[in-house]
Amino acid sequence: MADVDPRPGRASRRRAIRNLATLVAGSPMLSLVDANGDPVQPSPTAPGAQTGRQGGAGAARQGDRPPVVSPPVYRDEIMKVINLHEFEDAAKKALSVAAYDYVAAGAGDELTLKANREAFSHYWVRRKIMVDVTRVDTSFELFGKTYDHPILLGPGGGKNIVAADGERLSAQAAKKSRAIMVGGQMPLLAEMGKKGEAPTWWGATLGEATQAQAVEFAKRSEDAGASALCLTVDYPYTSARDRPSRDLWDPEWARTRVYGTPEFRVGFQAGVLDPYTPNLTWEWFKWVRPQTKLPIVIKGILTAEDARLAVENGASAIIVSNHGARTLDGMGGTLDALPEVVDSVNGRVPVLVDGGIRRGGDVIKALALGAKAILIGRPFLWGLAAFGQDGVQRVVELLHGELRIALGLSGAGTAKAVDRSFIRPAWKPYKPAATPSSASR
Ligand SMILES: Cc1cc2nc3c(=O)[nH]c(=O)nc-3n(C[C@H](O)[C@H](O)[C@H](O)COP(=O)(O)O)c2cc1C
Repeated sequence: MADVDPRPGRASRRRAIRNLATLVAGSPMLSLVDANGDPVQPSPTAPGAQTGRQGGAGAARQGDRPPVVSPPVYRDEIMKVINLHEFEDAAKKALSVAAYDYVAAGAGDELTLKANREAFSHYWVRRKIMVDVTRVDTSFELFGKTYDHPILLGPGGGKNIVAADGERLSAQAAKKSRAIMVGGQMPLLAEMGKKGEAPTWWGATLGEATQAQAVEFAKRSEDAGASALCLTVDYPYTSARDRPSRDLWDPEWARTRVYGTPEFRVGFQAGVLDPYTPNLTWEWFKWVRPQTKLPIVIKGILTAEDARLAVENGASAIIVSNHGARTLDGMGGTLDALPEVVDSVNGRVPVLVDGGIRRGGDVIKALALGAKAILIGRPFLWGLAAFGQDGVQRVVELLHGELRIALGLSGAGTAKAVDRSFIRPAWKPYKPAATPSSASR
């Protein structure tokens, strides 16, 4: 029984379970650890501590069941935030209107922003039962390496906007939560790398102005310790975003306080066509590709045709992404685009996806439609804004924890076992196959 029965007369049983939970708190079976991986006693307000759900009931039947897996526990104000959506509420309280809007906004009417979330209700999980799911394993492989979980931190320039030294805090959090970090400040990551403190990270660029700069970027990434490059190809022009536009988002502020590169411009003004990398083409990419030995991941693919071209031109992996709905408004949700890209790629390179992923169940759907891994953008920035490094870690670890639960409950058990048999389109009712006898009736 997982939950505590609230009926009268069960109090003594609840007390017994609670006592048992306290007893086993030091036991190796109970993996309750803090952010440094050290064992901690459950805080009286930590989730599960009052109910004995942290392992008390499971401990009584050791041998029957695998151990309880509890993600690291942080201070109470963080543990009270119980899902990724609520991290946004916590961040909103901590941020100025302008900073919150900058991160939250999508382009235009934010139809695509809504579509990213809505796409997750276009598919339902086909849960399987009576399968031995004793072993729950979230690991996945990419470019010849095995990672603990398939949750990556997406590239984004907002880290230093939402928190002082946000780039460093995010990198430290990525390292602790064992998430690959896509993008980041190169000198910082190089410095961390020298001390063995850097996470696994990829250099990220929206494209460089010239071929020489592209080569220089690749070399700098290699020297700084990047294990791959991520080229975002969906940013020929900066988009119009109403919220920052209304907030009179100050490019100067972004430049000096945030990005630190003199040429960086953030506009988002209504009706202004603001070029970024409009000259990026497959020809250009074909020239750049052999200039580095690092894998190059193309981010921003949404169609079968572009996926085919990406593979043909040497992409090492593809990220199905609409830039968190921050560019062209009116595109559909990324989960809806994922199947056509996966089918077009046909296993030749790994496909990843991002956009609106907030739950472990969302991750299962992405894996079932053929994604190898997923990225999150806003959620980790919300964690950072509200609670600094611990907030980022908790966001990753909470989503990881939800993924474990979803794998355990779906009948898949392991991330690797999730395939299309675990999903069906929500709009297609089940139709029994016609049999000769039913057809002739
Ligand atoms: C504040 C902010 C800045 C971003 N900057 C970049 C960027 O510079 N390059 C890029 O490829 N994607 C950028 N993104 C998009 C994210 O990498 C990711 O694709 C997206 O946020 C995923 O959707 P989600 O926020 O719904 O999880 C940014 C997203 C946000 C929220």
